[in-house]
Amino acid sequence: MMSASRMVALVLVAGPLTLLASSCSRKVPSADMLRGQQAYLAYCAMCHGDTGAGDGPLAATLATESGAHPAQLDLASRLDALGRAGVRKIIIEGGGHLGRSNLMPAWGEKLDPALVNQITDYVMALPTQKQAVPAATIQKYLQAPPGTPEEGRRLFVYYCSGCHGPEGKGDGFNADSLRIRHNVRPRDLTDASYFKDKTDEQLYATISLGGGHTGKSVYMPAWTYTLSPEQIKDLVSYVRATSHTESKP
Ligand code: HEC
Ligand code: HEC
Repeated sequence: MMSASRMVALVLVAGPLTLLASSCSRKVPSADMLRGQQAYLAYCAMCHGDTGAGDGPLAATLATESGAHPAQLDLASRLDALGRAGVRKIIIEGGGHLGRSNLMPAWGEKLDPALVNQITDYVMALPTQKQAVPAATIQKYLQAPPGTPEEGRRLFVYYCSGCHGPEGKGDGFNADSLRIRHNVRPRDLTDASYFKDKTDEQLYATISLGGGHTGKSVYMPAWTYTLSPEQIKDLVSYVRATSHTESKP
């Protein structure tokens, strides 16, 4: 039982907090919320969908191959039932340990605790996302640069930005831990002097087969199992755009 004085104290604390929350939820999203959003798009959206509707591009594959469905994260009732602590625990430990599908990965080892908190807060805000981060901000973030294939930017955000960074500068959310643990840096994809001499074929080979097969770091993953040849070509075009270099046969 909660004592009356504690209840009063809670109400006193909750009062200003609610005010704060409502003033924050107007148009301009906080820096933490934006970082949570970018990390969500980098690590979760390919399964859970851009807005948490459970309809990311990998959802259909998961459903046909294993009958698993990424949870819908835009349902207030669902998130309320889990609570913030419950959601955070699932993100850290993954589905397999908590009576859910093991296709929900464990992120605790891969992402630093501050980022996990930012992602958790972003997920908790998904049901009311229109207030947390306006849809237009998300659209703009995912929009392909002029003259590049529609899908390139989106694929980059889903599959590459976690390491290479939101704008490809080699400063993704994982970059620090890759540097500290493995002494490797995701390539800066805006480095024109480096990319001007690379052929499209070389870029295609590294993206599709991974760094290990092309004399680069094994921490550059192979994408040939996840992405189609067309999608990998779109990514080559996207790398051309970020590095401001011309296509080179
Ligand atoms: C490879 C696909 C995949 C990725 C990537 C993924 N998830 Fe999931 N997630 C799932 C699946 C599948 C489930 C459903 C598990 C079940 O119900 O058995 C799930 C379940 C969840 C749940 C539990 C919801 C509930 O009501 O039980 C949360 C929370 C969640 N995911 C958050 C995230 C977050 C945050 C990220 C990114 C950091 C993420 N997921 C990345 C596939 C994925
Ligand atoms: C787990 C982290 C990680 C992810 C995810 C990742 N990369 Fe990389 N990538 C690296 C690292 C590390 C290197 C540096 C390899 C080296 O220089 O030895 C690299 C190098 C590259 C290069 C330079 C190749 C060259 O010729 O030197 C390109 C292009 C590239 N990545 C594209 C991508 C694309 C496109 C994606 C998404 C489909 C992606 N990367 C996802 C870590 C990653």
